Amino acid sequence: RSSSVKSQQVKQVLVPRRGYGSESVPERKVAILGAAGGIGQPLALLMKLNPLVSNLALYDIANTPGVAADVSHINTRSQVAGYMSEEQLGQALEGSDIVIIPAGVPRKPGMTRDDLFNINAGIVKSLSAAIAKYCPNAIVNMISNPVNSTVPIAAEIFKKAGTFNEKKLFGVTTLDVVRAKTFYSGKAEVPVEEVNVPVVGGHAGITILPLFSQATPKANLRDEDIKYLTKRTQDGGTEVVEAKAGKGSATLSMAYAGAIFADACLKGLNGVPDVVECSFVQSSVTELPFFASKVRLGKEGVEEVLGLGPLSEFEKEGLELLKPELKASIEKGIKFANES
Ligand code: NAD
Ligand code: LMR
Repeated sequence: RSSSVKSQQVKQVLVPRRGYGSESVPERKVAILGAAGGIGQPLALLMKLNPLVSNLALYDIANTPGVAADVSHINTRSQVAGYMSEEQLGQALEGSDIVIIPAGVPRKPGMTRDDLFNINAGIVKSLSAAIAKYCPNAIVNMISNPVNSTVPIAAEIFKKAGTFNEKKLFGVTTLDVVRAKTFYSGKAEVPVEEVNVPVVGGHAGITILPLFSQATPKANLRDEDIKYLTKRTQDGGTEVVEAKAGKGSATLSMAYAGAIFADACLKGLNGVPDVVECSFVQSSVTELPFFASKVRLGKEGVEEVLGLGPLSEFEKEGLELLKPELKASIEKGIKFANES
């Protein structure tokens, strides 16, 4: 490294990468909390493959040494370290640019995401307090369910600590987009890699609202096809929970979705223009304080929360239907964070 690079405020290494104006890519530390779990392990693998990551911190309450040793042998750019037990959480978080949180219990058949609240709310609360203490400026990617409540919990904990930055807190809803793209491509018979579908609202049942009227490439699908695709997207998580028959929920497709979203955040941080993904963020798009919609990502996190665009009558109805449930889940999270 040259001394001029060392002296810059943003740490940089001279690694040529395509798609950047200069020949350098900044150093970026990514921490995964819950890194030894069903999502955590494949997500750790995918983040180790991401050339934008220079340091990968893998934290869990159990089994991280093995996961970290395993992933660390992969011959890619990032340095990997494993951290276990609460005493090591500070070290794992310090200096992080992005913290991804898949810590917590998954659903079993017959459960709703809200049934996870009692266990996961406490986990998210304590991890958020640690983030406020050790890396208050980090971008947070919340995967732990119920996302409709865990994001408001994190926001309240950050507010209490005086560190809340609404531009840096994201509920990860990318898996809904991934599913909507896959299902649309099958029905519309268009190449999946060309498909784009915004998914708005929240991340549970009817709060997941795919906007197939805005899907591209355009296809003249019948109303009943749109209804089928909407329901399949809303029930995508349950489809996996039932197929896994008690052995958890989506892990591999979620790791993929989490890696796509973290990569978008890294690109935004690094100044790549026009990085747009759907995410559950603090929002004024509707009257609800948090809402998922398209978001432009930039050097500070959220650069712009984009509006919903024109909706079909079916989508307008879906939007009104989802609001009471989403509002209740948000309020439940806020209440928990302030009472317990
Ligand atoms: P899992 O049980 O396989 O793994 C969870 C991991 O979290 C475990 O390794 C566990 O040790 C760890 N953990 C528990 N408490 C912790 C703490 N205090 N600090 C750090 N780590 C802790 O579960 P999974 O399948 O990986 O799912 C994790 C969460 O992600 C669940 O809540 C699930 O519902 C959610 N999820 C969300 C989406 C989404 O689209 N947002 C998709 C799939 C799953
Ligand atoms: C999903 O959408 O797959 C996750 O939220 C996990 C679940 O419980 O469905």
